[in-house]
Amino acid sequence: MKENGDKISMITAYDAATAELVDSAGIDSILVGDSLGNVIQGLDNTLAVSLEEMIYHTKIVSRGVKNAHLAADMPFLSYQVSVDSAISNAGRLIKEGNAESVKLEVNEEYIDTVYAINKAGIPVIAHIGLCPQSVHVAGGYKVQGRSKDDADHLLHLAHLAEDAGAFLLVIESIPAPLAEKITKSLSIPTIGIGAGNNCDGQVLVFNDMAGLSPEPLPKFVNKFAEGRKIFIKATEKYIQQVKSRKFPSKNNSYE
Ligand code: KIV
Repeated sequence: MKENGDKISMITAYDAATAELVDSAGIDSILVGDSLGNVIQGLDNTLAVSLEEMIYHTKIVSRGVKNAHLAADMPFLSYQVSVDSAISNAGRLIKEGNAESVKLEVNEEYIDTVYAINKAGIPVIAHIGLCPQSVHVAGGYKVQGRSKDDADHLLHLAHLAEDAGAFLLVIESIPAPLAEKITKSLSIPTIGIGAGNNCDGQVLVFNDMAGLSPEPLPKFVNKFAEGRKIFIKATEKYIQQVKSRKFPSKNNSYE
């Protein structure tokens, strides 16, 4: 797709129903993101998400997927402890979760891990830029790569990831010109989130894309529907019809 200049669409999903929906819509790739900590579990960050939870959600998502590529996030401390445990944890996402690839948030420390997982036969997506699993180290969720040194570092890191065998690079929250420079200098595709319009593809969290997430949303999110408004209105209507005895009607009842 990169070679043909076809943009790659990626979206997160955490359950079979949503996966079936986005797959039917023709999405290219589904990511079971560890953002499930924020979106599904109501947590402030992704750090508490466990490998067991990622395997469970990946497995149920896989039941809704017919065509899209299915990728799963490796959660915090599932690949940082040792290369060996990273390979076996990545393997569990493939064998038990039915994922087709795994995603790791990388810096120089984890390039060997990318290499080893890939060497074990598991396709790897490297995630650079804003890495939510490093929120406490970074001191918050901040745009990365604004200074010349940081930008050079991210460009270098992108090449290390490609050289280590990553087949895809997710770039989060960096200035658009830097994302474009990285994209043009790599042969593997880049998928941006908060990284401008010149990456090879885009990823968003499903609930943000569908307007289901409560405000405020990050600047890089566009709501493609007013999901919250639609579902709150539907629920209000349902409550009102239950209370006024309008629902269930004869049509909804068995004779
Ligand atoms: O966890 C996640 O959903 C992600 C994407 C937003 C890239 O990492």
